[in-house]
Amino acid sequence: MPLGLYLIAAASENMGIGVNGGLPWRLKNEMAYFTKLTTQTKSPDKKNVVLMGRKTWDCMPKKYRPLRDRINVVLTNQYLDLGDEAIVCKSLPSALEKLSQPPLKDQIERIWVIGGSGVYKAAMESPSFHRLYLTRVKKYFECDTFFPPISNEFKLTSDPEVPEGIQEEDRLQYEFTLYEKC
Ligand SMILES: NC(=O)c1ccc[n+]([C@@H]2O[C@H](COP(=O)([O-])OP(=O)(O)OC[C@H]3O[C@@H](n4cnc5c(N)ncnc54)[C@H](OP(=O)(O)O)[C@@H]3O)[C@@H](O)[C@H]2O)c1
Repeated sequence: MPLGLYLIAAASENMGIGVNGGLPWRLKNEMAYFTKLTTQTKSPDKKNVVLMGRKTWDCMPKKYRPLRDRINVVLTNQYLDLGDEAIVCKSLPSALEKLSQPPLKDQIERIWVIGGSGVYKAAMESPSFHRLYLTRVKKYFECDTFFPPISNEFKLTSDPEVPEGIQEEDRLQYEFTLYEKC
């Protein structure tokens, strides 16, 4: 089966996802949800990919990167050598091509697209798009980076791996949602 793209993001009421190179909020349990979903695999012999733009990579504190127990892939138009830490690719199609070749193909369970803006947009428009896991943070935040518009082809759905209902941390409410494309 060809590898599908699983997008995961958290966005504010005004669809903001980032400010000054970081996240606009600090939600420990939401981050744990991100870590769990992007790391867990059904097959103990496989790993997931976390695919991101170069700025998202740059923004991550060095102690957290590469993201542990996942195959890190970074998109950039520059020449960048990240050694053993991450696979560097020039575009989403070239990343998919590389990840679909053996031996990598046989080692990968899911490809998680983890941002930012342009990478989400490319993945939502890709024929390989599979699902969007979007946390709706129920507050307006001043942001400089935004989640791309979600077309009405995307429909809300549910899955046991997505907790239902309103979550709350530090008096900030949010909700886990899941979209598929019809
Ligand atoms: N809330 C969330 O869920 C979430 C998730 C991720 C990130 N963020 C936040 O979002 C901000 C970073 O996101 P961003 O949108 O500014 O940047 P980004 O997407 O992480 O990185 C942009 C860079 O990635 C490369 N790139 C992007 N799309 C590409 C493509 N299709 N092909 C080739 N290269 C591509 C380019 O790198 P070069 O310039 O090197 O060519 C581009 O300048 C930060 O504030 C971060 O904290 C939030």
